[in-house]
Amino acid sequence: MTAQLNPRGDVAVLVPAAGAGVRLGPGGPKALRLLGGEPLLVHAVRRVAEAPSVATIVVAAPAADVDHVRRLLAPVAPVTVVPGGADRQQSVAAALAAVPPGPQIVLVHDAARALTPATLVESVAARVRAGHDAVIPVLPVTDTIKEVSADDVVLGTVDRSVLRAVQTPQGFRRSVLVAAHAAALDPLTDDAGLVEKSGGTVTCVPGSELALKITRPFDLMLAEHLLSGGVRFDP
Ligand code: CTP
Ligand code: MG
Repeated sequence: MTAQLNPRGDVAVLVPAAGAGVRLGPGGPKALRLLGGEPLLVHAVRRVAEAPSVATIVVAAPAADVDHVRRLLAPVAPVTVVPGGADRQQSVAAALAAVPPGPQIVLVHDAARALTPATLVESVAARVRAGHDAVIPVLPVTDTIKEVSADDVVLGTVDRSVLRAVQTPQGFRRSVLVAAHAAALDPLTDDAGLVEKSGGTVTCVPGSELALKITRPFDLMLAEHLLSGGVRFDP
């Protein structure tokens, strides 16, 4: 089925997918590893393409796999595929540079969050549209968090009530993301961090358990279970 992206949509979604997947273990780039018989990237793009506000999707693929990824995604959704960079931030920058004129809201997603529902894409975009420069989906932290020394001695217990675990897609007014990337000095693992460093305000919306990042083998097993169980929940 070919997803028709909405030409009147005001959202571009960048999907960095150029990572090696070292923590998942041997088996090739993580975005191309299979979940329920399909690459993680296919799952991620299919769900993003279901979000009605999305006009454009740009994928940053492993440099050696750009043509393969174009062929892979052609039946899933109309996407632009560019070669990624050496770290996530460079991959995001490459995808950002390929966004056509038009969309004034840019979301940055992870291919590794393959089961992220389209409703989360919409809720992040809606909050940016409502006037916020930078928006991140978050979940409360459920574990007790302790600060420890290099030799494993506990230094203290962190107040959990003020902590949040951060997911993607992270949403931005386009000009804010472009400026934050232009000003970036050090590589960070999230784009909102760049906005924070440049003095901008970042606002939180409720995240989704389904937007878990597939990082280690256990996460992939969990995602397989969620998918095969046909789980239909959207917290
Ligand atoms: N990513 C990217 N370009 C890179 C590194 C990461 O586009 N040079 C992407 C990954 O493909 C992933 C997302 O950024 O979709 C989040 O990164 P992560 O979960 O760390 O994935 P990997 O870097 O592939 O995994 P690992 O760190 O275990 O190697
Ligand atoms: Mg990584």
